[in-house]
Amino acid sequence: MRIIGTGVSIPELKVTNDMIAEFLDTNDEWISTRTGIKERKLISTKNLFHLAADAASKALESAGKKATDMDLIICSNVANSYITPSLSSIVQGIIKATCPCFDINNACTGFLTGLDIADAYISSGKYKNILLICAEEPSRFCDWGDRNACILFGDAAGAVVLTEGEGLKKIITTTASMPDVLYYRRKLEPSPFVKKDENYKALQMVGKEVFKTAVTSSTRDIKRVISECGMVPSDVDLFVLHQANLRIIDSIRQHLDLPEEKFPHNLDKYGNTSSATIPILLDEQLKAGKIKNGDILCFSAFGAGFSTGACIMKWNA
Ligand code: ACO
Repeated sequence: MRIIGTGVSIPELKVTNDMIAEFLDTNDEWISTRTGIKERKLISTKNLFHLAADAASKALESAGKKATDMDLIICSNVANSYITPSLSSIVQGIIKATCPCFDINNACTGFLTGLDIADAYISSGKYKNILLICAEEPSRFCDWGDRNACILFGDAAGAVVLTEGEGLKKIITTTASMPDVLYYRRKLEPSPFVKKDENYKALQMVGKEVFKTAVTSSTRDIKRVISECGMVPSDVDLFVLHQANLRIIDSIRQHLDLPEEKFPHNLDKYGNTSSATIPILLDEQLKAGKIKNGDILCFSAFGAGFSTGACIMKWNA
């Protein structure tokens, strides 16, 4: 499998740290030094499916494909205003695709999980062209009175078009159940038969625990996937990592003992856009001419679950 097109859609509303400090007990200095985030772009007038369809259309255009060429659409999303039908089925109608669709929810690891599923379909010969969209609006499941979490997130969509090829060398995903460190409990409709306590909560996060688990698991996954390819860390040209916190990225880099130039980041502009961070950063690096044919890329992500994933991809092989 290989990636033949990328596309991104970012909401227009820019929310700086100073703007958040107007209504929360926080400040630009604290947020910048602890996270690397300066601003994020948030959903305001548009719906998430608008962003998802826009990113998808751009990815198709960059791949030189039509929506009707797609054999499958997978959409990674944690939460949006539609619990059903799937976001992918709404996008299918907007972009005028005709293929089957489904959504996955594996939190911030969704892009890696989507790649893994797409690879299984493509390797089996069942499908040839797959559109993978990661569309997220975490600003809608944070408590905007909780300075511990809401400052971290941004909304966005990123998409890739996948087809047959030799690019993907190895992909792994893992889950280790830890539902208490990071969760969002959505309110369901009341039922006359429910006789249990229910505790609806906006996003809850034990920040320090997530930080430690993220660094340990991503470093472990990256080392494993590199060694299973018969490579060493210095063989990787670019690490396109989940953008959750600049300090997490830098800790992983230090564990691998590699130079900063190999770890691009864009957290300062977008914050953590959940599963959309990797396709957005990939698109940016491609447009900036930072990736050439034959380069070895490593993607790695972690998220609620606790879920993780990593892969090695030779660009355009
Ligand atoms: N502004 C000012 N002060 C704050 C803020 C804020 N926004 N948030 C917390 N503080 C305070 C705390 O109340 C605490 O004060 P105290 O010492 O008086 O109790 C102090 O700052 C230190 O708080 P810590 O939680 O110890 O700060 P820490 O250095 O751990 O940084 C952070 C917090 C940024 C959340 C960090 O733990 C982190 O990034 N964790 C990982 C988060 C993450 O990646 N989440 C991903 C979620 S989704 C996903 O991608 C999987």
